[in-house]
Amino acid sequence: MTNLFSSTTQKDSGPVECLGQTFPGEQARREHYIKLLAEKLKDPAFRKIEGFPQGTDEAILAMSDPPYYTACPNPFLEDFVRHYGKPYDPSVKYSREPQTIDVSVGKTDPLYKAHSYHTKVPHLAIVPSILHYTEPGDIVLDGFCGSGMTGVAAQWCGSAPAAYRHELETEWKNQGKAAPKWGARRIILNDLSPAATFMAANYNMPFDIEAFSTAGQKLLKEVASEIGWMYETLHTDGKTKGQIAYTVWSEVLSCSSCTGVIVFTEASRNDETQGVEDLLTCPHCGSKAKKEQMDLTFESFLDPATNSAEKRPKRVPVSIVYKIGKAKFSKKPDDEDRRTLAKISDLPLPADLPLNRLPDCQMTRVGRMRTTNTSAIHFMFLPRPAQAMALLWRKAKLHPDPRTRSMLLFFVEQALWTASLLNRYRPTGFSQVNQFLTGVFYIASQHAEPSPWYILDGKLDRLGKTFRTFQTTPGQAAISTGSVSSLPISNSTVDYIFTDPPFGENIYYADLNILVESWHRVVTDAKPEAIVDRVRQKGVSEYQHLMQKCFAEYFRVLKPGRWMTVVFSNSRAAVWNAIQVALQQVGFVVAEVTALDKVQGSFQQVTSTNAVKQDLVISAYKPNGGLEDRFIRTGATAESAWDFVQTHLKQLPAVKVSGGDFQELLHIVERDPRRIYDRMASWFIRHGAMVPMSTPEFLAEMHQRFVERDGMFFLSDQAVEYDKKRQQIPQIREMELFVSDERSAIDWLASFLKKRPSTYSEIHPEYIPVVGAAKKKGEVIPELGQLLDDNFIQYDGNGVVPSQIHSLLSTNFKDLRGLEKDDPRLMAKAKDRWYVPDPNKAQDLGKKREKALLKEFETYKAFTGRKIKESRLEVLRTGFRAAWASKDYTTIISVANKLPEETLQEDEKLLTLYDLALTRTEDGS
Ligand SMILES: C[S@@+](CC[C@H](N)C(=O)[O-])C[C@H]1O[C@@H](n2cnc3c(N)ncnc32)[C@H](O)[C@@H]1O
Repeated sequence: MTNLFSSTTQKDSGPVECLGQTFPGEQARREHYIKLLAEKLKDPAFRKIEGFPQGTDEAILAMSDPPYYTACPNPFLEDFVRHYGKPYDPSVKYSREPQTIDVSVGKTDPLYKAHSYHTKVPHLAIVPSILHYTEPGDIVLDGFCGSGMTGVAAQWCGSAPAAYRHELETEWKNQGKAAPKWGARRIILNDLSPAATFMAANYNMPFDIEAFSTAGQKLLKEVASEIGWMYETLHTDGKTKGQIAYTVWSEVLSCSSCTGVIVFTEASRNDETQGVEDLLTCPHCGSKAKKEQMDLTFESFLDPATNSAEKRPKRVPVSIVYKIGKAKFSKKPDDEDRRTLAKISDLPLPADLPLNRLPDCQMTRVGRMRTTNTSAIHFMFLPRPAQAMALLWRKAKLHPDPRTRSMLLFFVEQALWTASLLNRYRPTGFSQVNQFLTGVFYIASQHAEPSPWYILDGKLDRLGKTFRTFQTTPGQAAISTGSVSSLPISNSTVDYIFTDPPFGENIYYADLNILVESWHRVVTDAKPEAIVDRVRQKGVSEYQHLMQKCFAEYFRVLKPGRWMTVVFSNSRAAVWNAIQVALQQVGFVVAEVTALDKVQGSFQQVTSTNAVKQDLVISAYKPNGGLEDRFIRTGATAESAWDFVQTHLKQLPAVKVSGGDFQELLHIVERDPRRIYDRMASWFIRHGAMVPMSTPEFLAEMHQRFVERDGMFFLSDQAVEYDKKRQQIPQIREMELFVSDERSAIDWLASFLKKRPSTYSEIHPEYIPVVGAAKKKGEVIPELGQLLDDNFIQYDGNGVVPSQIHSLLSTNFKDLRGLEKDDPRLMAKAKDRWYVPDPNKAQDLGKKREKALLKEFETYKAFTGRKIKESRLEVLRTGFRAAWASKDYTTIISVANKLPEETLQEDEKLLTLYDLALTRTEDGS
């Protein structure tokens, strides 16, 4: 085979500096590090690192460009951090508030679209966060980097166009924020999947764009001259040759009534709409039936990879769309076309075509992948695209310049999904490129098989244009392949983490990436993949533990006092809980959870685990060294609890203002005293310590230690800032409270009664509609009367009217204005109203309530049946907490074992204590 690129001389740029060493040129730099990496690969201990991909040394070296990119754990990351990072210095002041992001921004940006990945967060959505949390030169990390958009964002901070800068600065100014410091940040990217990191590396490492464009054009031309004949067809004039754009293939079925042969495409076509009918009409007997009711016809073939007989669905070409010059035509395949196809089928399988079997996975066990027997990579390609893709791959690999070669493979990779049988035929689609179902392997009954040029010609131009506007700099990014749970970086070295982990069971990345990885001959090690996967026996709890290991590494490498943004999207409460528990157990403190309200275009803080149907953004921080050190010195005392609250309040925003023309002050959920208590309790529990005070004690003392405004708590300087804003914007938007369990029912009542102390008959009609809709399954919420009795106080008409009721009545009733608190008219109107007790009374009530809850917990302990189907969460939480405090881990475990799985998995507090109790008993501590 001719080497198309043999005439290309490798340009060398002159001396280059790399991690403190100077090399005569890029080639020398690369040779030096390739040699080091090759030696490292021989070390069995190195290959044992968690998440080490499966591939030979040669294959790993061929993908890598060390020290910047390795298709295995990057042994040079540590040097990168040492060389470019700033060591953690506790005396350097750093303070930021949590910043939320809109993950849907930038989905049409050409850079984002330059290479597709199963899920992607656009770089433009990430840029504001990086600008907010970091300064130029800081180190940003994304350990679940996928296609590497966080890296693009980090580098984009240095090359953002003037118009973008101006727009962002104006927006920040309107929010009262100072302009960001522009300039690229250093980035460390990591992913378990070599397909992902290869993409991330090519997005983030500089290359010669002109050399790439020229090489790309040559590649397509050369392939055309070698296999162009495979894509020729005779025009209907009988003499002109047309170039095939795509061929439509259809499965063949057999009629359930007459057993006649049915070509799916023909029997299902609606000529008027060009669409596909649900019912197929048999051309022989005219009977109508659904596809599923007919039998798929199979043909046998000898698999050259194994020399064994296999079967595959019988597929026939039904139409050809081709071009002559710019004109487009379509035709039914004729004998000549069939002869060409048969000739291609007879060719030996090309050497570059991967022949590996797909692993046993969820996607191959069910659905069309199973029924079509698509069980190996080469079964996913018809003979012609198999030849074409292998040739493109082989030629791209021959380019002598490693960086251009890598970009060519990045370019060719993008045709793999479309060239495979995953590409569905869309009769009404504008283009037949990228018509596969995203996030899953799915083989449709109709397949559009495009030519390589139909897929890639336009792509090459677009890539050229896109990358000309985006500048990357050598040494700005370091990319590694392995599990986040074992990052080769030292402690406290990273300045900010932005990350978008897998969301439970949504997407099987390793299984999907095998299609591309097989071509590289380096595939993901799926063992540490943090997903829910029945086939690999990973349930929600395994997912939580995998995530916990990953978050623990994040925690270790992040500098104290610094932030992590976690983007999350899943509608299962259990998965959401798993993330929350995993985060807090490793030591992160969550400071804000927001969701974008797509209709209003504003961010909402998320309070309830039921409301997780949107994309959520979690802002969490690693508490600064001072707090941890003081905790170690003083232990789990009340003072360390207040120390935590003090530190936590400092991290929270003082004010939050709604966007839009009509500004309102927003209630900051994380400043709610109960929420602060929960954060404090999680922190203590995670340190293996007992929570040093009860909720009522805590709530009572909060008032003495901190400043309360509108039901939120502040440090005094923050309260000053809040008051100032409150004067400018008097309107405050209340949180919408969902009642899903007893706790939220109490919160709802507290918020209602605070504004309006009311009688039972006034409360009842307002309360009933809110309690029904969102109730958690299996949760018992006590009757309204009991909730009021246990948590609030009713004025019985004797003694002075409590000030909470007095102020409501005197503002709302003219004739009651200015009356003394013991005036009989006022007392009569106040009688039977329920109100929110003041902190001291609340403490008494709280203690009484806790006793009652613990008493009820005894019944759960004594329960001898199989499962407690319905339970009161508040009882369970209080019981678990008390058991934890007395180190009675067996009670926690035995009650937990009697609960339905969802009850545990969907409640953060129960799950945390259960998990820790398990660890404690396993440890024998
Ligand atoms: C939601 S995707 C990230 C997509 C990315 N934000 C982008 O824009 O392309 C999650 C990634 O996590 C990776 N992953 C799963 N388990 C991992 C682990 N233990 N360590 C590192 N990466 C992992 C998957 O391979 C997948 O690429």
